[in-house]
Amino acid sequence: MARGIAAPTEHQELIEWVGDIAELTQPDEIVWCDGSEAEYHRLAEELVAKGTFTRLDPTLRPNSYYAASDPSDVARVEDRTFICSRREADAGPTNRWKDPAEMRAIFTGDSSGAAGTGGEKSGPFGRPGDGGLFRGSMRGRTMYVVPFCMGPLGSPLSAMGVEITDSAYVAVSMRTMTRMGRAVLDQLGTDGAFVKAVHTLGAPLADGRADVPWPCNTTKYISHFPETREIWSYGSGYGGNALLGKKCYALRIASVMARDEGWLAEHMLILKLTPPRGEARYVAAAFPSACGKTNLAMLEPTISGWSVETVGDDIAWMRFGEDGRLYAINPEAGFFGVAPGTGQHTNANAMKTMYGNSVFTNVALTDDGDVWWEGMTEQPPAHLTDWKGDDWTPDSGTPAAHPNARFTVPAAQCPIIAPEWEDPRGVPISAILFGGRRASAVPLVTESFDWQHGVFLGANIASEKTAAAEGKVGELRRDPFAMLPFCGYNMGDYFGHWVALGKDAERKGDRDKLPKIYYVNWFRKDADGRFVWPGFGENSRVLKWIVERLSGDAAGVETPIGVLPAQGALDTDGLGLSPADLDLLLTVDREVWREEASLIPAHLETYGDHTPPELWAEYEALVARLG
Ligand code: PEP
Ligand code: NA
Ligand code: MN
Repeated sequence: MARGIAAPTEHQELIEWVGDIAELTQPDEIVWCDGSEAEYHRLAEELVAKGTFTRLDPTLRPNSYYAASDPSDVARVEDRTFICSRREADAGPTNRWKDPAEMRAIFTGDSSGAAGTGGEKSGPFGRPGDGGLFRGSMRGRTMYVVPFCMGPLGSPLSAMGVEITDSAYVAVSMRTMTRMGRAVLDQLGTDGAFVKAVHTLGAPLADGRADVPWPCNTTKYISHFPETREIWSYGSGYGGNALLGKKCYALRIASVMARDEGWLAEHMLILKLTPPRGEARYVAAAFPSACGKTNLAMLEPTISGWSVETVGDDIAWMRFGEDGRLYAINPEAGFFGVAPGTGQHTNANAMKTMYGNSVFTNVALTDDGDVWWEGMTEQPPAHLTDWKGDDWTPDSGTPAAHPNARFTVPAAQCPIIAPEWEDPRGVPISAILFGGRRASAVPLVTESFDWQHGVFLGANIASEKTAAAEGKVGELRRDPFAMLPFCGYNMGDYFGHWVALGKDAERKGDRDKLPKIYYVNWFRKDADGRFVWPGFGENSRVLKWIVERLSGDAAGVETPIGVLPAQGALDTDGLGLSPADLDLLLTVDREVWREEASLIPAHLETYGDHTPPELWAEYEALVARLG
């Protein structure tokens, strides 16, 4: 049935692959998405008719929808996320690994080898009746073919993919989050390279079975085949598990492409910072999930004359240009942000971005047909329908929105989107920031001595598991480069890739063109457990020091852990910080740092002989400086 359908492309490999997947999954119908507005509206109508979408009041929030997921399908499932490299060592100790042929057999019933193995195949996907989770998984449903481009169309830094999905929610979300549709097929031509991404809800409608608003399966697999650049996702409709261009492609698969091709695919925001006088600078920053990347990307500076504009809020693809500088693009076209905690005071620009053309998932519904979540306003409405569909009042004692409720919005709607955010050349990065949530030990901002020392700082990113008392280092959860859930290969080899890029630049005489690397911590607490730094818009003061360091206009003092702002160099005018507060934020306690350093060997040993010797050398140098 699937073969010979009228495909709007002459790309034979693509046509054959779509036919093979249709034969495997047996959908009722195949729709090639063109990415048009008319198509978006048609699919949204269908989702409204099915009960997946509720249209919001168009006078309050035009062209916007509310969706509630199945209560079991609300977040990424890291324990069901697999890297199926041929060799287990290539997945590394921090990923879940499965042999590609074994995973292929689970999906298709074909145990003769296939995706990711390069082995002999008995047929594209085994024989009918062999079993396998994807076999017949789209029965009774429509299969959408979603061609997408990560990055501006036609940019040498961009790359393409095609997602096959049986979820219309995924198809409409991919239109917001990526450049999607006919223009991508045109770009692919007859033989362009693309990543193959297959997604099924795992909820076939056999024999007239009725559908539900949010179909999914209790069995879930989010599987990546790095060698063949494939993604197979089963059983979830949730963003990070199902919108395969984002975490699965732009980070896990792309990190492998980047290793092989000499570039970087990173879990980083990109922002543009313009001082009152002097040139604009571009900054990339990696923080673990829920450490405020979207807020920093859309920051409203509190210092006069400075402005911030947004290039991206979650992912950066970066490549060295012929001039030796590192150029970054945001591979995404939308923001898929956490709603709770987002409000006028924390992120006014995000609030403006989602004025319309938005999809809200697992937030609460107001009685007048708009959305609400914790933190949107100080006073909650007197009555809501919560994310589970139940009546809610401020006395209910449960959150009205799920803590991981999300907004899906076009990036172009951000009032401070940088005009060059879609520049096919990317933007030249001057500084890279790393950071995590640390109540203790870690100063507000530290400048690395050089690239390699900066790589060491990135490799050691950590957040405290429990709120630690000042002067005591808590139990640390390491999240190197904020890539722990997203690196598609051995994290030790990934460290080595970062080290090697620095050495390449040095060899070419481009050492001074490398971005400077910083470590920031907005989350320092005092002995009473109070956040010492006000954060949010005031973080612009730290960005100011960083930019002034780049131009040689701000003083720093060398400490054993890096260069900190010299006394008076950080603009804290009007913040009302006490000398004790400043001391806590901007001094290094050697005793505490000896303890901090003592935790590093166990972390580096995690990766065995994949850990580059340069990081051990950085550790030894740190210990020597601490004395
Ligand atoms: C996601 O879960 O889909 C996602 C974007 O993840 P995070 O916000 O944790 O980066
Ligand atoms: Na998540
Ligand atoms: Mn993220």
